[in-house]
Amino acid sequence: MLVIATSDKGGTGRSVTACNVAYQRALLGHDTCYLDFDFGSPTSGAVFGVDEVYHGVESGGLHHYLQGQVTEPQRIDVWRSSSRRELRARRSVAGRLVLFPGDLGGGEFNMTRDVYERCVKLLIRLNEEFGLVLIDLSAGRSHAAEMLLAVTADDELRRRNMEARWLVFHRWTRQHITAAADLVDGRSGLVQVGQDLGYSEGSLRDRIRFVRTAVIEPDSAFARGLQATQQTWLREVNSNLNDRAIQLGLGRSVVIASIPLDPVLQWREQLLTDSDVQDDVANKETVQAFQRLAEDIETGDTWSRP
Ligand SMILES: Nc1ncnc2c1ncn2[C@@H]1O[C@H](COP(=O)(O)OP(=O)(O)O)[C@@H](O)[C@H]1O
Ligand SMILES: [Mg+2]
Repeated sequence: MLVIATSDKGGTGRSVTACNVAYQRALLGHDTCYLDFDFGSPTSGAVFGVDEVYHGVESGGLHHYLQGQVTEPQRIDVWRSSSRRELRARRSVAGRLVLFPGDLGGGEFNMTRDVYERCVKLLIRLNEEFGLVLIDLSAGRSHAAEMLLAVTADDELRRRNMEARWLVFHRWTRQHITAAADLVDGRSGLVQVGQDLGYSEGSLRDRIRFVRTAVIEPDSAFARGLQATQQTWLREVNSNLNDRAIQLGLGRSVVIASIPLDPVLQWREQLLTDSDVQDDVANKETVQAFQRLAEDIETGDTWSRP
């Protein structure tokens, strides 16, 4: 299964959530790989705690592979390479967790026929090797996003029954909701470009779900710590945001996850492990939300027509 993570804006929590979901998915026993397609800002090494690829690799990452500079992209065994002790200890009980990093100082490049074919070849191969292939795109409309729409609408992938699913990440604010809706439905958005590239509108929409990140639910423990006036205000804003989300087609039926605002992630981009929760620095609810998404990313119910 291919899952493609995208967002209209940067700083939505897309990469941090996607890395945590990949981690939880591997902990469930599924072989999982993470492809850093955010060529301008490949930060997944930092989130996984792999210090030597903090901001991508010197050479031989996905960027270079797609451009034909190497025949195989570099792979990193996260269990073995993470600087976090808990990860190294979990290795034997989990599925594989492999990071395909981007290259340092990458950036956008032209998606030629050769690039396209290398991408198809890689995805077909990784899909056979891993239960989940999670691809993290850059923010906004990018050449890479367009290429992945083309690739996943491709007959070859359909013939092989390769399912692609799209997760659109956004924060729970007015601007972010509007931007996420525009990325899907606006001019040159996913739906329009996807149709130009061979998707039918219905089949593409069936494959798109939204992920709300860093959300403060009015009934959460966090909100209960606010002053009464702030709680009232939060309730009202939250209700307005819900109305707006429904108006723009981002209502509950198309939301696959809502990840709570977490104090640890607010200050550091990282995986949340059991020990972060046991030490009472990260919230249990956040980890549970990642776990649920790691399960729901596959289950039929979540993806049946809303
Ligand atoms: N659930 C969350 N609660 C609080 N902060 C978060 C949460 N998820 C992500 N963040 C923080 O938001 C910032 C942007 O996240 P990141 O994943 O890098 O965004 P993107 O990939 O969309 O650009 C990071 O500092 C990250 O740690
Ligand atoms: Mg990112």
